Amino acid sequence: MILPGSDPAAIAQAVQKLGAGELVALPTETVYGLAADAHSDAAVAGIFALKGRPADHPLIVHVASGAQVADYAAEVPAFAQRLIDAFWPGPLTLILPRRPGVAKTAAGGQDSIGLRCPSHPVAQALMRAFGRGLAAPSANRFGRVSPSTAAHVQDEFGDALMVLDGGPCEVGIESTIVDCTRGAPVLLRPGCITPAQIEAACGQALADALAQAAPRASGTLESHYAPRAQVRLLSAAELPQHLRELADQTHPAGGGIGLWSAQEPHTGLAGLIWREQSRDPAAAAHQLFAVLRELDALGVAEIWVEQVPCGAAWDGVRDRLQRAAA
Ligand code: TXA
Ligand code: MG
Repeated sequence: MILPGSDPAAIAQAVQKLGAGELVALPTETVYGLAADAHSDAAVAGIFALKGRPADHPLIVHVASGAQVADYAAEVPAFAQRLIDAFWPGPLTLILPRRPGVAKTAAGGQDSIGLRCPSHPVAQALMRAFGRGLAAPSANRFGRVSPSTAAHVQDEFGDALMVLDGGPCEVGIESTIVDCTRGAPVLLRPGCITPAQIEAACGQALADALAQAAPRASGTLESHYAPRAQVRLLSAAELPQHLRELADQTHPAGGGIGLWSAQEPHTGLAGLIWREQSRDPAAAAHQLFAVLRELDALGVAEIWVEQVPCGAAWDGVRDRLQRAAA
């Protein structure tokens, strides 16, 4: 059931469920998360089971403030502390050495732990009322598109799951992840915080992720964030030609085509559903998962996406699109 996250009674009910080892979906400023008590192996196992996620893919533990980091991390390098000071609460996850004996199941058995302090007021209210860290991956089935509204979560898991509604997620794509276990910061997943912002805040250059042995991270699998429809990335230059070819077909692709592009198409194509792609990277990130889900729900056979511009500000969106199309 969907409950208003701004209602203190709903928060109290969610705290009770979490305390009883049950799952609750919560809004964050990035995407909705599927939360459980990070200290309960049974509750965390419930997340893996519901998502259909392999148990060795680590979850992020969400904390109410930087003060809780010491509960989970064995040590915090100076550059990581600078990132915490600069970006928390906010859409940044840090991978840190895990305190032995703490949240091992949530960490997928790794000796590191992903920590994030979300800024969303409903997430903050829930975490402060609960008092312990919340293990929470994105609230979608494994490999599928992340949810950016409460209704998306309900579409994924049905009405039995309690979803705290905090409105549409402001950022719309998952947090930037920086690995802080290797002496220098390594970007594991691009998000709305750019490499330049990270380097400026920690006073240190990002090390090359490719040169390092990558740990297990489902968000870094080549195919991820995938809708049911086939996603095709097309450059702005090649899009008109593809649309013309489609218009020339007497029997266009069964099920129709969804198009997310900045430029409105000029074709009289029946069965083409167009959604406008913002030319602003933050606005496009905010639209991304909702558009993919909407076009998927309309039953189109293919989703054509105009490739987004080059440049670091678009890295997060470009990364999600590449994985959705893989
Ligand atoms: O914005 C977000 O980060 C959202 C919201 C709900 O906070 N959460 C999210 O969780 O995207 P999830 O589980 O869908 O993605 C977390 C990513 C995964 O790719 C996971 O493998 C990686 O973080 N991760 C977590 N702990 C890790 C660790 N100890 N080492 C390496 N990667 C880790
Ligand atoms: Mg995910």
